[in-house]
Amino acid sequence: MITAEEETPQGSVQNLELSDDVGRVIVSEVELQARIAELGERITADYAGRPPLLVGVLKGAFMFMSDLSRAISLPVDVDFMAVSSYGSATRTSGVVRIVKDLDVDLADRHVLVVEDIVDSGLTLSYLQRYLLARSPASLEVCALLVKEGQQRTELDLAYVGFHIPAEFVVGYGLDVDERLRNLRAIHAYAGDLS
Ligand code: IMP
Ligand code: MG
Repeated sequence: MITAEEETPQGSVQNLELSDDVGRVIVSEVELQARIAELGERITADYAGRPPLLVGVLKGAFMFMSDLSRAISLPVDVDFMAVSSYGSATRTSGVVRIVKDLDVDLADRHVLVVEDIVDSGLTLSYLQRYLLARSPASLEVCALLVKEGQQRTELDLAYVGFHIPAEFVVGYGLDVDERLRNLRAIHAYAGDLS
């Protein structure tokens, strides 16, 4: 049986949202989906005739990758990398370790890196250098979120979903200590950040 809530998932509340450390909505599910549709259209136009290889950065980008790939009307390939940056749960040090490398060769591929969020930008800057060394035909970045005023390095981001205030956020793939990734919207984290 399909309930009214399932028919209009945008309006439904996940029980998870009621937990104490889930704060206000920063980007709603409706805003996310509308923006992703726009990004998909732009990418479809920009990459016509040279279908991209989407490289998702795990784990945070898994949900964005899933929705973005379906918003692109081109025969894309997908692959994933997993990186872990040394630092605390909420701050990266910029020293990145590749936990899972790509399965495919990048030579002559049009690579579009799909990232969840750019904070200091150090993770992405490292990844760009790492991927460029493998001689792709082109390399661009699509970041869902960019935190205002936090970047410690110059980054060239071809596609950005939303610029958000510099606070810690969770949901839609983003975690705090591996929790809260399955929230449908981007929320401020209202718990302790130690
Ligand atoms: P950066 O290297 O400082 O740009 O940090 C990038 C990575 O840190 C992202 O790919 C996320 O995994 C994580 N990160 C940064 N800010 C947040 C946040 O507000 N919530 C959850 N994860 C975050
Ligand atoms: Mg993370």
